[in-house]
Amino acid sequence: NMKKKKLIAGNWKMNGGIAANDALVRAVVAGMGADAGCQVAVCAPAPYLAQVQMLRHGSALELGAQDVSRHEQGAYTGEVSAAMLKEFGVRFAIVGHSERRQYHGESDALVADKAKAALAHGITPIVCVGETLAEREAGQTEAVVKRQLAAVIHANGHCISEIAVAYEPVWAIGTGRTATPGQAQQVHAVLRAQLQAATAHSDRVAILYGGSMNAANAASLLAQPDIDGGLIGGASLKAADFLQIIAAAR
Ligand code: G3P
Repeated sequence: NMKKKKLIAGNWKMNGGIAANDALVRAVVAGMGADAGCQVAVCAPAPYLAQVQMLRHGSALELGAQDVSRHEQGAYTGEVSAAMLKEFGVRFAIVGHSERRQYHGESDALVADKAKAALAHGITPIVCVGETLAEREAGQTEAVVKRQLAAVIHANGHCISEIAVAYEPVWAIGTGRTATPGQAQQVHAVLRAQLQAATAHSDRVAILYGGSMNAANAASLLAQPDIDGGLIGGASLKAADFLQIIAAAR
């Protein structure tokens, strides 16, 4: 049974500090053991990437960033390039998180370019898509996520099989209101079909669910046929909760 390994990625967002990160990463690494039975990553704020890279060194825990510049280098004050991330052992970079789309005006085209910049340096972009509550209530969920993913497919051609996708319904993020497994699966199936139409290697693309995933609801979400893992916000900040989600993904 060659079941694909699931991917559990923590998104710390703008949380943490040197002391807290040290305790959290040590606890996660110790709790995971040598083989967690799934892929595990934490996406840390940029200033802490070097710290987390040292803490995780030699373990199965992978390192991720929360964003990446679309540019290669140069006069882009405040930006962090994919090449810089790569120097610190970054394997994943979240792109197009709804918080960046919402608070930083990131467009579908910009998100697609960021995914391309990550891929060019061997970093797996975790491309976030998801509808707002208003869009869901207006029956636009499928159209919105397809539009968001289409931009990334369009910009990345045959490399598209090297991305990961995270379906994060905006109304479920940080609200304690999780999509039901059925609601999530329905959207994941749409995304899967879209990827299948774009590449013969769509089975390589992990489609993660994100939005109030926690120790109690992870197993039922991860049991869905097209849910390949999770992108975890709040629950990734507590080692015990994050480890329970990892255990549910075995
Ligand atoms: O990227 C993860 C995320 O947006 C979900 O956050 O706190 O609802 O798990 P949270």
